Amino acid sequence: AEITINATQKKPISDVLMGVFFEDINYAADGGLYAELIQNNSFEYSPADKKGRDDSWNARSFWNGNFTVDTLNGIHSNNPHYAVLKNGSITNTGFDGIPVITGDKYDFSIFAKGAACTVKLVDANGTVLAQATIKPGKTWKKHSAVLKPSKTVADARLEISTSGEVAVDMVSLFPQKTFKGRKNGLRADLAQTVADLHPKFVRFPGGCVAHGDGIDNIYRWKNTVGPLENRKSDRNIWHYHQSMGLGYFEYFQFCEDIGAEPVPVLAAGVPCQNSSTGGAGQQFGIPMEHMDEYVQDVLDLIEYANGSASTKWGKVRAEAGHPKPFNLKYIGIGNEDLITDVFEERYTMIVEAVRKKYPDIIIIGTVGPFFQGTDYVEGWAIADKLQLPLVDEHYYEQPGWFINNQSFYDAYSRKATKVYLGEYASRGNTFYNALAEAIYLTGIERNGDVVSMASYAPLLAREGHTQWNPDLIYFNGTEVKPTVNYFVQKLYGENPGDEYLQSVVSLSENNDEAVKRVGISATTDTATEDVIIKLVNILPVTVTPAIELQDIKTKGNAVYTTLTDVPEGKTGRPVTIQLPVQEALKKALPPYSFTIIRIKTR
Ligand code: AHR
Repeated sequence: AEITINATQKKPISDVLMGVFFEDINYAADGGLYAELIQNNSFEYSPADKKGRDDSWNARSFWNGNFTVDTLNGIHSNNPHYAVLKNGSITNTGFDGIPVITGDKYDFSIFAKGAACTVKLVDANGTVLAQATIKPGKTWKKHSAVLKPSKTVADARLEISTSGEVAVDMVSLFPQKTFKGRKNGLRADLAQTVADLHPKFVRFPGGCVAHGDGIDNIYRWKNTVGPLENRKSDRNIWHYHQSMGLGYFEYFQFCEDIGAEPVPVLAAGVPCQNSSTGGAGQQFGIPMEHMDEYVQDVLDLIEYANGSASTKWGKVRAEAGHPKPFNLKYIGIGNEDLITDVFEERYTMIVEAVRKKYPDIIIIGTVGPFFQGTDYVEGWAIADKLQLPLVDEHYYEQPGWFINNQSFYDAYSRKATKVYLGEYASRGNTFYNALAEAIYLTGIERNGDVVSMASYAPLLAREGHTQWNPDLIYFNGTEVKPTVNYFVQKLYGENPGDEYLQSVVSLSENNDEAVKRVGISATTDTATEDVIIKLVNILPVTVTPAIELQDIKTKGNAVYTTLTDVPEGKTGRPVTIQLPVQEALKKALPPYSFTIIRIKTR
């Protein structure tokens, strides 16, 4: 293949192109990124959490033993249920067992009133690994202890026993080794795997979780901040419980910890079109008489993130330990909503209010659930009418679609609303899928002047608890299993460019099918002035490039990274070597491979 890369023909592209889409789906939050080890720690699980899937799911789920669940004078009206034990014990097995590591310290805490109780970590054979005694008084109070397990096991349980009567709530066990050592923090290995993607932004808390499956199920950020015992947990649209222990404060803090822009997405005053109330395909929304209050919630979020500690909501943030603003720049309004009058009225109200009070906030709109259908067209028409800076497009397609549509954004107007490709995936976790995504991303970089942001979806999935496949990173209690698709995202994340260099490719195998299966994107990272060449070969044969750099002075060796596997493979991992630049530019691209050549120019 003859390839010419010309540094005089360049255009600026987005400097926040590659990010992540975090949704609380597949146990991505509780039992996932959130490091709390006790499941149903506030006794708030209810049958409605698993409606239609598991009728036995209730406030007792994940607790065994002889206890009653009471609601008389609980800790807080948002958290009414608690357990009462009499002369006995209760146990909790966490999320498929509690993983503990010998030598590590675990922060145990509990709200309790009544008789003294003993807390033990016990392994599957009944051996006690650690224990502590708690001596509560007559009123609710938080008690703490540090547990140091004597053995490493993946499936311990927590046991609380008493020989009197004691009421307990908010039973918590946290590894002290959380990501960056944060209290109420994130699981270190999983958070690090996300951080290693070098995402420029993190979208949260979803997808469909954001708009919920009914008006009462719309995700309300105010329920997720402040002391844990006062947060209001809820069922999510994926039919399991969300404790909200991982709430807006924790999301913002994670973004800050990994240097990513926070991108919260809020419902546009309407829930999911497939909601049980209202009927599938119907659209209904928050009653107009309550919309002012809802709009205020959206404005308050911006104050929570960016206001000084002397503002009402900035103070709540400061009290949580973050007096400095989080510097929120983006806010998403709506997710895959049906584009109806009900939607448009509420969406317009929110957009106008945000724009008026916070003109610098970049609003990301939505273009409906059915890609390229009527909603999509109407969603774009509203975006034009409201002159939105960005809209969120979603698509899950077969790999062939991604290979065939690399020029998808070539014809998009550069003068109108830009695109956040908020959700995409090629329906599989084989290397062929990963290559289809890699080649499509060469087209996204080429269109990085109109596509401002892109995030693969969904991000996380706990094995045995998935509602959606494929995902980017699978995990269980002790292991993290990034997919081969993850490594494509990681290579893009590690090698961003903010200028696109024109490249001309001519293949000796010059037929249309072959041309579509060899992709190139050449960019410059203006911070380092490195030239980055991404090459994707989805042909079953070696392609030997002859890359000519025009008007580019090179320095030192090239950093040459290859990711290769068989099309159905799932285990390919990037391999990096150093090569003289001229050798790197001519090195054969293996069949089914993704290659990145990084060249210094100073
Ligand atoms: O990513 C999974 C789901 O797909 C999201 O929640 C939703 O926005 C889309 O339909």
